[in-house]
Amino acid sequence: MNETQAIIERVRRVNETHQRLALAVEPGILQIKPGQSLLARLTATWDPYLREHWHPVGVEKNLLLVERPGSLRYMPGAVVSLIGPIGSPFRFRKTLRSVLLIAYDTDPSPLLMTLPALIANGISVTLVLLGTAAYGTEHLPPEVEVLRGENGTLNWQNRVTTVGWADQVFITVSPDDEADHLLSLWKMFGDLRADIPSNYLFAVHNMVQPCGVGGCGACTLKIHGGTALVCADGPAFDMTKMVLT
Ligand code: FES
Repeated sequence: MNETQAIIERVRRVNETHQRLALAVEPGILQIKPGQSLLARLTATWDPYLREHWHPVGVEKNLLLVERPGSLRYMPGAVVSLIGPIGSPFRFRKTLRSVLLIAYDTDPSPLLMTLPALIANGISVTLVLLGTAAYGTEHLPPEVEVLRGENGTLNWQNRVTTVGWADQVFITVSPDDEADHLLSLWKMFGDLRADIPSNYLFAVHNMVQPCGVGGCGACTLKIHGGTALVCADGPAFDMTKMVLT
């Protein structure tokens, strides 16, 4: 992991809530894998003092695309200090036909870097948006099946089928209510499946990570048999190994 500088080449609004920044970065940063992220700070200011957690969503013509809230202001030409890559890549199964992505009360940005490789490999992808976060999906590849939760519940159209077909599931939830949301989804999968095997259901944590290098302990999680660090061991954790309370 290194500290490097990037330049914002383009800013494009992609829906009512989010924008995408196209960044000119060092070649090593372009190799970032699905699951990994960056800690960023606009170098012209020290605001915010803590770095922002930026999620890459793809690479386009040697520019790294990241998705950021539309309420923030970014200017083309601005220089950004980046630390990364943070975390470990998602561990996909070798034989994979179908992946289910779920965002609950949050945007799906931490999951979207998976899309280019999954689609290129002919793997079917379903994205389920649950809860209250309003996230428009018109900019996502047409190959992605998008389903939305019904009236704020954890139900969606063809839920039993999509859960049954998925070889692996990756979930991101609101950082403000992470424990409750993960527990609700864990119970829901327990009701829908006879058992939840290992290497099937993953929680993708999106908490504040002040240092990103395993030095501060702010991202410590309880797992069976001990603890783990989201910035070093995550962000994706097999939910069968997590202590959910
Ligand atoms: S962010 Fe400091 S230990 Fe993970």
